Amino acid sequence: MRKLIIAIDGYSSTGKSTLAKLLAKSLGYIHIDSGAMYRAITLYVIENKMIDGGNIDEESLLNNLDSIDIHFEYNPETQQNEVFLNGENVEKKIRQMKVSSKVSLVAKIPEIREHAVNLQRKLGESKGIVMDGRDIGTTVFPKADIKIFLTTSAEIRAKRRYNELLKTEQPSTYEEVLENIAERDRTDTQRKVSPLRMAEDAILVDNGELSPQQTLQIVLQLINERFPNSH
Ligand code: DC
Repeated sequence: MRKLIIAIDGYSSTGKSTLAKLLAKSLGYIHIDSGAMYRAITLYVIENKMIDGGNIDEESLLNNLDSIDIHFEYNPETQQNEVFLNGENVEKKIRQMKVSSKVSLVAKIPEIREHAVNLQRKLGESKGIVMDGRDIGTTVFPKADIKIFLTTSAEIRAKRRYNELLKTEQPSTYEEVLENIAERDRTDTQRKVSPLRMAEDAILVDNGELSPQQTLQIVLQLINERFPNSH
């Protein structure tokens, strides 16, 4: 049985993690949400007061990189890998708007990307992995066996994220969420180091009209066609 590396990239809130989770479960693979790493580092920056408005104290952050431990642990209750920052489970904290609104600033620092990419490649060493993010198919695993690029309109994405946030203790308005998504699209596609773009050999999937299960079935079919022995 051949174990694959599956890369899922795309814009913010396109359902990459949902697809990656379902896919990993179907295949018996591990799932790593690479965005959670950038979010955890952003939380560290906020909690250690290394940010003032839109300015990050990059020098302090880079000097402290060795004291930022990020790892994932599988939680059987939620059936997913959850991210830990220096021993604390921060899975919920990193989804708050205060983190979402700053994470692109952290994710565009070249040294931070290099650090995160090294960690991501280590996690993929034993294969059998589904990783989602922005540069997985282009930079982290350019030789991934399957590359999916998810897309859909900013309005549909904002509606989805808004509905998710309503379930939390810190809801935002739809307009705030839409603005945050548009802003992240801009920063993610325009940054100098590994900007968000579709790898040449990626398969484009627009899931605007598809449910998570329908998206999963399309991707599973693709995998089965290309790699009949992958699971
Ligand atoms: O997928 P997400 O919304 O949790 O990602 C959070 C931020 O991290 C997003 O603004 C872009 C950045 N990111 C990145 O630059 N590269 C990745 N591989 C994953 C996320």
